[in-house]
Amino acid sequence: MSNGKSTLITGIGELVTNDGEPDDGRTEDGKQGAFAAISDAALVIAEGKVAWTGPAARAPAADAAVDAAGRAVLPGFADSHAHLVFAGERSGEFAARMAGRPYRAGGILVTVEATRAASDAVLRANLRRLASEMLRQGTTTFECKSGYGLTVPDEARGLALAAEVTPEVTYLGAHVVPPEFAADPAAYVDLVCGPMLAACAPSARWVDVFCEDGAFGADEAAAVLAAGRAAGLSTRVHANQLGPGPGVRVAAEAGAASADHCTFLTDDDVDTLVSTPVVATLLPGAEFGTRQPFPDARRLLDAGVTVALATDCNPGSSFTSSMAFCIALAVREMRMTTEEAVWSATAGGARALRRTDIGHLGVGARADLILLDAPSHAYLAYRPGVPQVAAVWQEGRLVAGTTTSNAA
Ligand code: NIG
Ligand code: FE
Repeated sequence: MSNGKSTLITGIGELVTNDGEPDDGRTEDGKQGAFAAISDAALVIAEGKVAWTGPAARAPAADAAVDAAGRAVLPGFADSHAHLVFAGERSGEFAARMAGRPYRAGGILVTVEATRAASDAVLRANLRRLASEMLRQGTTTFECKSGYGLTVPDEARGLALAAEVTPEVTYLGAHVVPPEFAADPAAYVDLVCGPMLAACAPSARWVDVFCEDGAFGADEAAAVLAAGRAAGLSTRVHANQLGPGPGVRVAAEAGAASADHCTFLTDDDVDTLVSTPVVATLLPGAEFGTRQPFPDARRLLDAGVTVALATDCNPGSSFTSSMAFCIALAVREMRMTTEEAVWSATAGGARALRRTDIGHLGVGARADLILLDAPSHAYLAYRPGVPQVAAVWQEGRLVAGTTTSNAA
């Protein structure tokens, strides 16, 4: 389909384009606008891009045609926060939490041990399984962090593996201080900012730091981000996940694309997010998996903050790869409207990754799209837990599912 032939998808009950009038003054032409949808619509794919959208009755001819049979089409999900390079699992820790034990950042070290001991083949197989699980569920772009190696060779191999499956690769050497540096955390920060960064930067686009009690403080986080920037990486931060703290401020001062989690925010933090281009990426799978309070999405949205939704897929706090599940949680538990949640999972994720080619279906966007087995985007929250992704296109190629309708 991206081989020079055009494809018309017609009979679309609801086409979510996210190319509405910008409502925040931050959007330029051809990028993600506000949530917008067309009913009884059609879309033409050519050369891997969206070539035309509009009412089905006015659709131009194309080389091939697909009948959506009244179902909804939306941009592919952009999951801007995931930790997919790891070995082992922590279901026992999850079960203990559900029985009342609190979540602690220290659980990360259990995965670090298993990841260090795993072969490249095992790590690659795990990563590819999760990546294909995501694709089948409509995630056409995902970010992938290191952070379970925490030695120079283990971080470097994690990022090299991640770069095999996505361009959105994030160096998270500053996830926690590993046990061998427990007596001298400053020496670990030096390693992260020095030889480890040098070995990792060639495979990465981003640098991230877990800025939290039990992980890294404000000065350490700022040092990691500054070193990453000097090595050509763009910045993002794990901020304010487990309690109030300096994460959002550190993210803003570093010019980060995104502050992720944002579960415990002061009014000053919200003001900072409003007055800077930092996207607040909310990860409700983590609150679900740790039994923490959900972030206050309404407070952020009502203040005018740009909000993204992502899975945080990892074996500890949030072992889900389902953006649909995160949308359902955001709508039911965080009082986001269905339109806001779908926008945040598509256009919002794209903004958190500073991508203008994805997250919307305006003409010229990458033809990354989802055909839902449902007539509207609202079904993602209305029918929680039900697989509803019928087909997925990536750069105009049908990569998962089938376009045939079961309705008949
Ligand atoms: O985003 N916050 C830090 N890192 C992960 C948790 C990782 C783990 O528990 O293994 C998170 O929730
Ligand atoms: Fe995370």
